[in-house]
Amino acid sequence: MNKVRIGIVGTGYIGNVHGNIYSRDERAEISALYDIIPGRMEAASRRIGGRVCSSREELLDNCDAVLVCAPNKSHLEIASAAVAAGKHVFCEKPFTTGVEDARKLLEIVNGGNGVFQVGHNRRMAPVYVKLRELLADDPAHSAHIKMNRGELKNPPWTGDVSVTGGFLYETTIHLFDMVRFQFGEVTELKAYGSQHEYPEIDEFSVIFKFENGFHCTFASSSDASWHFPFERIEVFCHHRTIVTEEMERLLDSRGMNADFKTHSFHMVEKEDKWGYAQEDRAFITAILDGSSPPVTAEDGFKAVQIVEAVYESIRSGEVVRF
Ligand SMILES: NC(=O)c1ccc[n+]([C@@H]2O[C@H](COP(=O)([O-])OP(=O)(O)OC[C@H]3O[C@@H](n4cnc5c(N)ncnc54)[C@H](O)[C@@H]3O)[C@@H](O)[C@H]2O)c1
Repeated sequence: MNKVRIGIVGTGYIGNVHGNIYSRDERAEISALYDIIPGRMEAASRRIGGRVCSSREELLDNCDAVLVCAPNKSHLEIASAAVAAGKHVFCEKPFTTGVEDARKLLEIVNGGNGVFQVGHNRRMAPVYVKLRELLADDPAHSAHIKMNRGELKNPPWTGDVSVTGGFLYETTIHLFDMVRFQFGEVTELKAYGSQHEYPEIDEFSVIFKFENGFHCTFASSSDASWHFPFERIEVFCHHRTIVTEEMERLLDSRGMNADFKTHSFHMVEKEDKWGYAQEDRAFITAILDGSSPPVTAEDGFKAVQIVEAVYESIRSGEVVRF
């Protein structure tokens, strides 16, 4: 194959992030754009290139790989059509909303031949790559995790459940995927939730138990402030505490003294610091080499399962076992 021809469905914020990265990748070419708001794809085309398409079908006729960058609720339909057309697919998080849709899409992906990758970019962010590397040599005992937002007002759809599927799909799912990446498979969880600022449950506390005996607490608030760090993982090992602060830095405190080592990523460009450039390169590599993508449809499915298990535990008041 020559250059991988990329079609982007949804040319809003994240469609442009990926589009900018691919416009500089010599193994790829932006070939087609489709958005339900024509002005958006026209503006994107001027910046990153690509044919402005008047339908999704036209886009599918003019690319090898599709980036699904439209809002959450549309992922099942857009990704299914792309797989059915024989395309490689990069689907932004969440894989879908709801376990039923996730199972449907997983079956469709398993019946296809192309690469399917899910946009859980944080797995490739240097801070989380470093954490995984440290934990490989020093098993974690437990952790305390938080993933907050300051508000669900900006952009306005972040507070619209009919678009997001719920706050957990909008934000928290990033670190639900991360706990599997760092600590292995979840076996059970118990969750508490309450509603304050928005017309949905907007405050969560979860306790997780994992296959290997690891356990952790997890807090997620949609209307905290944007106080730094809005996302943090504190991991406790044998005489050791490792703390991540957003994608900016990792603090590693070992032994019985109070000294610690800092790994700082604040000078890294956001595209790399957040793992977007790495996930985009990995997608092209998987297409060209036939290698497995770093975040599979199965991973996307399991993140949706965790989201739904949290909502289920809050509804029922029970522990949910996987
Ligand atoms: N991985 C990340 O860090 C990250 C960051 C932001 C967004 N996202 C995900 O990416 C997706 C898009 O988010 P965004 O922030 O770019 O939103 P956005 O509103 O900026 O852009 C979405 C675009 O999709 C278009 N659109 C809507 N329905 C469509 C359809 N059926 N077909 C074609 N185009 C359609 C809209 O007109 C808009 O231009 C969401 O699923 C979101 O969860 C992921």
